[in-house]
Amino acid sequence: MDLLVRLYDVAADAALDARLRENGVAVRRALAPELETIRAFVAARFSAGWASEMQVAFSRDPTACLIAVRDGKLLGFACYDAIALGFFGPTGVDEAARGLGIGKALLIRTLLAMRERGYGYAAIGWAGPVDFYARAVGAIPIPGSEKSVYAGLLDPLLGAS
Ligand SMILES: CC(C)(COP(=O)(O)OP(=O)(O)OC[C@H]1O[C@@H](n2cnc3c(N)ncnc32)[C@H](O)[C@@H]1OP(=O)(O)O)[C@@H](O)C(=O)NCCC(=O)NCCS
Repeated sequence: MDLLVRLYDVAADAALDARLRENGVAVRRALAPELETIRAFVAARFSAGWASEMQVAFSRDPTACLIAVRDGKLLGFACYDAIALGFFGPTGVDEAARGLGIGKALLIRTLLAMRERGYGYAAIGWAGPVDFYARAVGAIPIPGSEKSVYAGLLDPLLGAS
């Protein structure tokens, strides 16, 4: 099932950003020399398929991959324009860092980057945690999207969701 997000209604969450900053967490766009580090992080914690998607997003100009970092350590990532243009994902947070608001901050920052890129709506492809997206940014299911653009994929892609 795919979800739809109205990008024109997505707002920055200043309180969340401030809380993460106080805890030493920075959310920012990934930089070219970080590709291998992020690829290894995604492949080890999620799947080879997600690492491939991340790499495609990374090749956009500017990189369509945002990361959360603390003390020089990667905690999470979020991409757009990977499986298809206008799609958010994949995204993931290191298991040890979940529940701190990092996934939500990455989601909002990435959706705002999509809006800046010129999109009016974002699709979230084959969404796993539907409630997370519904609560964080008001995402709604897209009727008839059960198979999504992933239909017929060679490699099982969503092993981690
Ligand atoms: C989904 C994921 C990115 C969320 O990251 P996180 O940093 O743990 O999430 P946050 O701490 O920012 O949570 C924000 C809010 O969403 C809620 N939430 C988090 N995960 C949720 C889930 N799976 N289902 C429903 N709600 C969820 C939190 O309780 C929190 O609610 P609050 O604002 O009321 O306190 C993370 O759990 C993850 O990496 N999961 C595995 C990979 C995955 O499924 N990616 C998405 C594929 S489409």
